[in-house]
Amino acid sequence: MRLKNKVAIVTGAAQGIGFSVAELFLREGAVVYLADVNSDAVAAAAAKLGGSAIAKSCDVSKKAACSQLVEDVMKEQGHLDILVNNAGILRTGDVLEISEEDFDAVLGVNLKGAFLLSQAAGKVMVDQETGGSIINMSSVNALLTIPNILPYNVSKGGLNQLTRVMAVALAQRGVRVNGVGPGSIATEMLEKVMEDDAARHAILSRTPMGRTGTPEEIARVALFLASEDSSYVTGQIIYADGGRLG
Ligand code: NAI
Repeated sequence: MRLKNKVAIVTGAAQGIGFSVAELFLREGAVVYLADVNSDAVAAAAAKLGGSAIAKSCDVSKKAACSQLVEDVMKEQGHLDILVNNAGILRTGDVLEISEEDFDAVLGVNLKGAFLLSQAAGKVMVDQETGGSIINMSSVNALLTIPNILPYNVSKGGLNQLTRVMAVALAQRGVRVNGVGPGSIATEMLEKVMEDDAARHAILSRTPMGRTGTPEEIARVALFLASEDSSYVTGQIIYADGGRLG
């Protein structure tokens, strides 16, 4: 029970990696707030998990929603120890054609969302003196250059810098900030990409382990960063990518 008496928020937890992170954190003894823009799906996800799983509807790209979420958690639990900024979206398109709307949408969720919630959660973590751990779900695409997902690549590159800057800024205020960089993980987001045979072949052939990862394999890295096992780790992005980055 590595997270006994801890309170965690996991965003984008209605499905995929976020759901697995919530599931593992619950098994490790935490109270877990599953936050997602898809209200019905997140309510169903929390009901499925049971126990100390609590569903909250939240669009992380909106400041008021992020503030409200942290306020609710503090009102209900009195402390907030772990934040996993996992919510993310992907839009594809040629770099010369991709719309302003798509660019703003991806940056709004993947980067600004993590910033807004880290700020709201960071304030209470600093004030409560027991500190906290913030984990950002980055991607190997923070470092790779894939032409048809420019906003996504830019958002994850920015997220790595957000992680490092916040880690340094909060290092003496008791809050650690780290990231997980998944490679190709078998979730709905990736299944859509892998429907295309060429994309499927490319993904598998460029992954030295020759397989996609599972959401649970990412959740275990997040658990390490959330727990005291990583008490001297901050400002790091741990890549779990089957060797993709070499
Ligand atoms: P997914 O598409 O299965 O789930 C994403 C969840 O985020 C959904 O439940 C969705 O409703 C929620 N969401 C979307 N916009 C939101 C918003 N504005 N506010 C709150 N929630 C919102 O995605 P998956 O695959 O589980 O990915 C999770 C994270 O991991 C993302 O940040 C993604 O970029 C990252 N990642 C995923 C990889 C993969 O291969 N699946 C690889 C590398 C990174």
